[in-house]
Amino acid sequence: MKIAVIGGAGYIGSHTARELLDKGHVVSVFDNLSLGLKENLFPEAGFFLGDILDKGSLEEFFREFEPEAVVHLAALKNVGDSMKDPEGYSEHNITGTLNLLNAASRHGVRYFVFSSSSSVYGDPEYLPIDEEHPKHPVNFYGHTKLSIEGYLAWYSRLRGIRFAALRYFNAAGYDLKGRLVGLDKRPVNLIPAVMEALTGGQEVLVFGSDFDTKDGTGVRDYVHVNDLARGHEMALRYLERENKDLILNLGTRSGSSVLEIIRAAEKVSGRQVPYKLAPRREGDPPTLIADTSKAYQLLGWEAECSDTETIMRTTWNAYLANGRA
Ligand code: WQD
Repeated sequence: MKIAVIGGAGYIGSHTARELLDKGHVVSVFDNLSLGLKENLFPEAGFFLGDILDKGSLEEFFREFEPEAVVHLAALKNVGDSMKDPEGYSEHNITGTLNLLNAASRHGVRYFVFSSSSSVYGDPEYLPIDEEHPKHPVNFYGHTKLSIEGYLAWYSRLRGIRFAALRYFNAAGYDLKGRLVGLDKRPVNLIPAVMEALTGGQEVLVFGSDFDTKDGTGVRDYVHVNDLARGHEMALRYLERENKDLILNLGTRSGSSVLEIIRAAEKVSGRQVPYKLAPRREGDPPTLIADTSKAYQLLGWEAECSDTETIMRTTWNAYLANGRA
């Protein structure tokens, strides 16, 4: 299939582009390189430097490449920032996506895979969280993702563009074969923060140690980025085969606590992680875990390399490859 990967120089985008190339697809990456990295690009894939806020660059890209499918991962993704800058988040995540969707519609794109998020659910009412769980985002970032899912349903109905909305839980890890090692420009999530602490950066603040969890710290469903990437390819094949829309959680159905992540980092690196217990972070639920039975039933997808050891080892290897150890 001829696939445009929008945001394909980013963290999940580049792993997805790699997976699509490995499966024999023809890939072209569209990215403005604001958060994406040149080093995440592959010579076998095309590359177009453009911005989803610039309709002209989208038009030129679609005219040149004429993709059959779009995989869209270009977005701002910091939950805290989204609460302080709803204008910026609506512009990039909503307006930008509508520009893209309209270009896709004008150019006869048939399949659209969207990088959605577990943040569409808001505070969990039950666990594990399945796709039918109520959707009441508690941050503006989650609102942008849910709102796009709504547009996708309409464009499927009115324009026949079949879509897959993939609701990732906590994406983590690096390519198992070490082909992608570009580090996050702003390491704010837990695992990057642990890596920074291991390599001489600030100590980790453990946000909350009095939750009702196995050790009092927050539990999350960390899913390896190679597993996520495989999910995108399988979702595209489903859209082509079934000609039906797809809304899916991608996670592991199990969770790790903050302290378990810290211990696993210490094990792979042979070093101690400096950390300090701190108050809870506003809006953090104690536990988030995905029910992934729908992905298994419909796609035969399940996480294969999302064990904590593999996630931490591949992340540590990426830091070593950057000379950061
Ligand atoms: C994980 C756990 C923290 C940092 C967010 C978004 C979600 C998705 C992934 C993008 C929590 C604790 C963290 C630190 C800590 N986003 N923590 N010290 O909040 O689960 O999910 O990122 O698509 O939509 O909500 O991820 O990595 O920030 O936190 O103790 O320095 O680690 O409290 O329990 P989160 P996270």
